Parts: sequence; C-alpha cells; structure tokens
Amino acid sequence: MPSRTRQGVASASREIVGCLVKLAGSMETVSEQRVTMDEITALAKRRGFIFQSSEIYGGINGFWDYGPLGAVLKRNVKNAWWRDTVELRDDVVAFDSSIIMHPLTWKASGHIDAFHDRMVDCKVCKHRFRFDHLKDASKCPDCGSKDALTPPRNFNLMMKTFIGPMDDTASIAYLRPETAQGIFVNFKNVFQAARKKPPFGIAQIGKSFRNEITPGNFTFRTREFEQAELEYFVPDDGKDIELFQAWVARRKAWYASYGINAERLRFYELTPQERPHYAKAGIDVEYLFPWGWGELESIAHRGTYDLDAHMELSGKDLRFFDEVSKAHYTPLLIECSAGMDRTTLTFLIDAYEREKSVDPNGKETERTVLRFHPFIAPVQVAVFSLARNKPELVERARSIETGLRTSFRTQYDEGNIGQLYRRQDEIGTPFCVTVDYDTLTDGTVTVRQRDSMQQERIAASALDTYLRAASEPSTGR
Ligand code: GAP
Repeated sequence: MPSRTRQGVASASREIVGCLVKLAGSMETVSEQRVTMDEITALAKRRGFIFQSSEIYGGINGFWDYGPLGAVLKRNVKNAWWRDTVELRDDVVAFDSSIIMHPLTWKASGHIDAFHDRMVDCKVCKHRFRFDHLKDASKCPDCGSKDALTPPRNFNLMMKTFIGPMDDTASIAYLRPETAQGIFVNFKNVFQAARKKPPFGIAQIGKSFRNEITPGNFTFRTREFEQAELEYFVPDDGKDIELFQAWVARRKAWYASYGINAERLRFYELTPQERPHYAKAGIDVEYLFPWGWGELESIAHRGTYDLDAHMELSGKDLRFFDEVSKAHYTPLLIECSAGMDRTTLTFLIDAYEREKSVDPNGKETERTVLRFHPFIAPVQVAVFSLARNKPELVERARSIETGLRTSFRTQYDEGNIGQLYRRQDEIGTPFCVTVDYDTLTDGTVTVRQRDSMQQERIAASALDTYLRAASEPSTGR
C-alpha cells in the first residue's frame, strides 16, 4: 500500500498545527529571524542554485531545474546519503531500477487502487485544492467564497504514459511514484546475485513522479523529484524493532553530522491509527520550514506486506531460503525513504543567515552567508588573485587553484577582494585563498574562513593539509 494513504493525511495536518504552534509562541524565537521563502527563492535564482523549469515559456507548475551550484549541492547531498547508507556498510548493496515498470507492479503495490489524494474545486474561482490541506472546508482558501467547494473526490497521483506507437489502454504505463517497488520485484535477483542473507539492505536513488494536485513551497512539493530509498530486509527473529530503532538513530546522526539544526528537526512517531494496519512502527522525519513542519523522510517497519503483495500477483516465490533451518521465509522490511529535493532545500534554508558585523574600520556591515557543512558546500575553496591585470598574480593563483582541484571543489576568481568574499559567503564557500604580492616573494597566501571571517597567513605549499584539517569532519560520514 502506498504511503500516501497511510501517512499523508497525518503529516499534512501536523504541518498546519506546526504553523499554529509557531505563531502561538514557543517556536517563535527559532523561526523569527529566519529566512523567508521569497528570500530563498531569490537567492537560489540569483546565484544559480534553482530555476523554474521552462521559465522562458512561463514555467511549468511543480517542476524545477538545478543550476550550476544547485546541481552540485544536490549531488553532494545524495553522495552524503549514499556514503553513509551504502559505502560505509557491508550489509547494504546498490541498485538502480527503471522508472517505467510493468503496470502490474502498481496493481500489486496498491498504487492503482489506492494512491489517491482527495481533491475539491472552488466553483467560483475554479482553483483546485487538496482536501486534507484545507483549514476550513466551508470556505475557499483563495477567493474566500463560502460553501463554494465541491464535495471531495479521489484523484490518482500516478503519471500515465504510453509504451510503443499506440496510445490505447493496452499500452498504458506509469512513471514510478516511488523507487521502492523496483527493489521489491528484484529482491530475489539481488540476494542471489549479491549472496546476501537477511538482515541486509538494498538502496537506490532515483527520480519519482507524482501528479500532485497542489505542488508548492518551492521544491518541497513537486511533480518530479528524487528519492533515496533503503529497503532493509530482516528475519522475523524478534530483533526487528531493535534494527528499526538502529536505523532511526543512524538517520538522526546523519542529519546532525551535516549540521542540520537539531531544534528544527523532529522525529515524529506515528500512532497505530496513523500507520497502515500491517506496519509495526513508523517515524516521520520533519523539518521546521519557514511555513511550518514538513516531512523530509519516512522510516517505516512494513512487515512482509510488499513482498507478499508481489508474490501473490506474480505467482513467483520471492522468499528467502534459510540454510540453517532449511525453511523458506518472507523477511520483514524496514524502509528509510528520504526526498533528496526536500533535503537539499533543507540544507539551503538551514544554512542561510543574515549577519551583522563591524569591520576593522568600525563600519557596520551586513552579509548573507550560507553556512554549509564543508562536505555539502558546492564550492569548498575559492582562490583569488588580488589583481586581474597582474599576469604573475593571476598565473600563481590559477596554478594554486588547479593544484587544489584534485582534493577539493574549487573556483578561481579575481578583483575586489571584499566583493569576492561577499559572493563566496552567499554561495556558502567555507574557505577563500588570496594570492597577493607577498605570495610572489615569500610563498604565503591569505586564508579566510567563512564562518569566523578570521584570516591567516600560511604557506601555499601547506594549503592542502591545512584545508583538509580545517574541513573536518568533512571527510567523515
Ligand atoms: N516508498 C515510501 C515512500 O515513497 P513517501 O513518504 O510517500 O514514502 C518519501 O515519500 C519521501 O519522498 C518524502 O518524505 C519526501 O521527502 C519525498 N516526497 C514525496 N512526495 C514528494 C513530492 N511531491 N515532492 C518532493 N518530495 C516528495
């Protein structure tokens, strides 16, 4: 059964409650000086993180493009997830399934019959809304008309396409609404080929598509997005809840290790009423966005539901054969499903700060700074030449930047150092290195740290070692 029917409603109503709590008091101090979505959207466009898709044709609702910095930022977020979930473990293997699968996949999974949102239309302004997002079902949230909303009706969120030259019902296929099903239908192929036995996991990152009724909040709710999903299969030997909790702890540590503010992150435990009947446990990982709490990831104990459903419809045995007990069994499933676009947006929002300070001349200045973790930052080291019209400085700075490229994500720039610092602060570069006239005589450069704005003079030959040490724990998780 798709999660839409199990967790969507609960999480949407918590989003609304989150907004009210924020207004009512306790969250106010955290959220008060926070960036607005308008500021984030403007910065994302200005600096090349995220653009509206097909902007020159007026855009297309629910689709976004990642610019030069955004593409790297999102890749870093995915790499950080992949490193921790796959590479640093010996019990998780990699996977990459196709976006379009046999349509029966979605029959078995429950998506064809139950992957619905309830929607209503306003008879006056003709706008469409998700029923569970309405605060007051008697009034249109856009035009305010009373009793103008139609009764709610089901709307299936899967996107349809046609395979081959005929666009008839026999050739209908769906763009996957989650990556997980590709893993379930391949479960046997994978455990046999990789010689794995439960407990073990299969992970993949890939695009998913949902025909959301009301996409919005920038890249939070979109119609095309990327998911990072881990499907962890465990024996039914009484240790499953312990393993579920271990994954919750690991995911919590992951967000913390990349510096997400703990006050803006919560792990909401679903009540039995909020979980599907077959699930033994469920946690929603939520972040306090400028508009309220929003789900980043769902962690669920799904029992044998998914494999059972595919075995029943396909008639194929996907059970695992245990050599010790000489018996077949269907493993239980623990799933960690994180949205990479939402997580990227979270890193962007969480890193944002407007900071006032006094410069060495006593003048008050203000800067916008993105305090990205060095592993997440799109550019890690910017190298400047003090002057653009001095070939010997330019040549030296360029050669230092080229030398650092093998270890760091770097950028070369030149000109007014104050302006260059401001630009790099705004894209979250942790270190700036300036090459000046002294560099030519004594071989030293100035390194300026983004967060403290402290400057140090160090030997250019020691830069690599210095930056590695200063980036810690970037080389960790
Ligand atoms: N296989 C389980 C699953 O798909 P889900 O809670 O529906 O569970 C997991 O989705 C994550 O995918 C969400 O927590 C969210 O981060 C992301 N996601 C879901 N719908 C999305 C959308 N329309 N736009 C962006 N991200 C979305």
